[in-house]
Amino acid sequence: MRAIVVPEFGARPAPADMPKPEPGPGQVQIELEAAGVNPFDKRIIDGFLKDRMPHDFPMIPGVDGAGSITAVGAGVHDFQVGERVVGKFLIPPVGHGTFAEYIVVPVDSALAKVPDEVTAIQAAALPTAGITALDLVHAAKVTKNRTVLVVGAAGGVGSYLVQLAALAGGHVIATARPDDTDRMIRLGAAEVVNYGRMTVTDSPTHAEASELSVADSVRITVPGGIDVLFDLVSPPTGFADNLSLVQDGGVAFTTVGSADDAALTARGITGGNFQSSGGAAELRELLRHVGNGDLVVPIDATPPLEAAPDVIGAPGARGKTVLVI
Ligand SMILES: NC(=O)c1ccc[n+]([C@@H]2O[C@H](COP(=O)([O-])OP(=O)(O)OC[C@H]3O[C@@H](n4cnc5c(N)ncnc54)[C@H](OP(=O)(O)O)[C@@H]3O)[C@@H](O)[C@H]2O)c1
Repeated sequence: MRAIVVPEFGARPAPADMPKPEPGPGQVQIELEAAGVNPFDKRIIDGFLKDRMPHDFPMIPGVDGAGSITAVGAGVHDFQVGERVVGKFLIPPVGHGTFAEYIVVPVDSALAKVPDEVTAIQAAALPTAGITALDLVHAAKVTKNRTVLVVGAAGGVGSYLVQLAALAGGHVIATARPDDTDRMIRLGAAEVVNYGRMTVTDSPTHAEASELSVADSVRITVPGGIDVLFDLVSPPTGFADNLSLVQDGGVAFTTVGSADDAALTARGITGGNFQSSGGAAELRELLRHVGNGDLVVPIDATPPLEAAPDVIGAPGARGKTVLVI
């Protein structure tokens, strides 16, 4: 089968011919149509999980994928050949991922059936980023009129998070580059704070030049402080700066490990370093939202599988990149 492989940690991925995997007991074989790309793929390739999980080489990277079941192993009753499915697959040994024509996964992994109205490309864009966003909204208990700041809103997680926080009734402030302001508003942001060129946009129709930091810009817009901070990108100093916006007793999460728990506790702020743990149930909830038209799948680009070496780890995400297999 066609696949993308990495011969050793840190190596550049490359196309290769690999054996087609066959399902064992309790497993299904999926012919993949589409595979979502996440920043985590590059980190796995670079050895992030080296000491935590066994790996097989040549490693096929890729965690998110969607396609149709082509074979089922003994004892599988809930899934049948021909059914369309999607999943988030980080299954030891690491190295049998979704950047390939076929994958074999246990049925009790984060696997869900795809409704007819959702395409394989849309489905493949959901798992890691969508589940993380949903987990964050649940963990922070976003409710009506809570002021929610999303830092790093333009990427995969952020593009879902803006929508899901708005859907939960939150007043969402998104950070984005100036050229992405309109998209953030369409996704449900009430306000957009620009970074990069340092322009403040208070509403979809009004923009003024500014030399302010994101935190200073938000402070002007929301002088009383925010209720919830979701920071998807900032290193510890940036997170500490953004944390100063959160009201005492509020909630602040970082997905990149930038929180100093003591600093949060001192101000009665809950949250901290966040690890997404959602699975099949959260994936089904996201698929329902997409099927209902409540959630837009933010597709940025759909390059072919062979383009994977160029898109894995690439910066400047505007939603999700999905490899078409
Ligand atoms: N802990 C967990 O469970 C978990 C789960 C999922 C993801 N993550 C992590 O969360 C992070 C975000 O994931 P993702 O999938 O959303 O990544 P992504 O798709 O690459 O998006 C990151 C976005 O942030 C923007 N950005 C970069 N620097 C920024 C800044 N200073 N201010 C505002 N925006 C900025 C980027 O745009 P520009 O490059 O144009 O600036 C890009 O749009 C990644 O590091 C990922 O590994 C953690």
